[in-house]
Amino acid sequence: MSESFFEKEENVKQYFEMTADYDGRWFFEQFKKHVPVNYKCLELGMGPGKDLDNIRLEYDVVGSDYSFVFAELYKRSHPEIKIKVLDAVTIKIKQIFDCIYTNKVLHHLTFDDVKKSISRQAEILNTKGLVLHTFWKGTGQENYEGMLFHYYETEEVIQMFEQEFKVLHISTYKEFKEDDSIIVVAQKK
Ligand SMILES: C[S@@+](CC[C@H](N)C(=O)[O-])C[C@H]1O[C@@H](n2cnc3c(N)ncnc32)[C@H](O)[C@@H]1O
Repeated sequence: MSESFFEKEENVKQYFEMTADYDGRWFFEQFKKHVPVNYKCLELGMGPGKDLDNIRLEYDVVGSDYSFVFAELYKRSHPEIKIKVLDAVTIKIKQIFDCIYTNKVLHHLTFDDVKKSISRQAEILNTKGLVLHTFWKGTGQENYEGMLFHYYETEEVIQMFEQEFKVLHISTYKEFKEDDSIIVVAQKK
């Protein structure tokens, strides 16, 4: 993705309109199934904060995005929630978490940057901490108006995590079409 795509207010506004119907219920159900409720969580790439809206109801969570525009908009309407501007690759934060999650974010990073992100996530997780991430399933990559969409097959996702994490759960699911997405839950080794 071009560094500045979601730093432009018009793109953020358009994204809000595009995702108006998404309520994040399925993702929240998965989250509750895999992540103990007392876990301190960090969301990377929170966007408009639809998933954060659900997760903050039951978890102690810090939201973040590399876009100052998304972060600022959410902060303004939810001053009680901790929000940071963070790049998912470098994750420059001093806190340690029990769980780090993303929902359809890591496909915007290059393969090398996803690897860097996963290593950095391991550094800022407690012992046996969890990650929960979703990906678009498929092969190859596309560039859509400056945004990178990198598709992964299940086996590739396992390989990306297995150096630093033990994969506890991986499955495909339907976002728009049957098996167009992958969810992975892994525990720091
Ligand atoms: C599909 S949206 C996520 C939507 C979110 N799950 C929700 O509940 O609304 C993808 C988000 O990833 C963010 N993003 C893309 N690259 C990023 C990066 N390198 N670091 C942090 N966030 C990034 C974008 O700014 C965008 O907000």
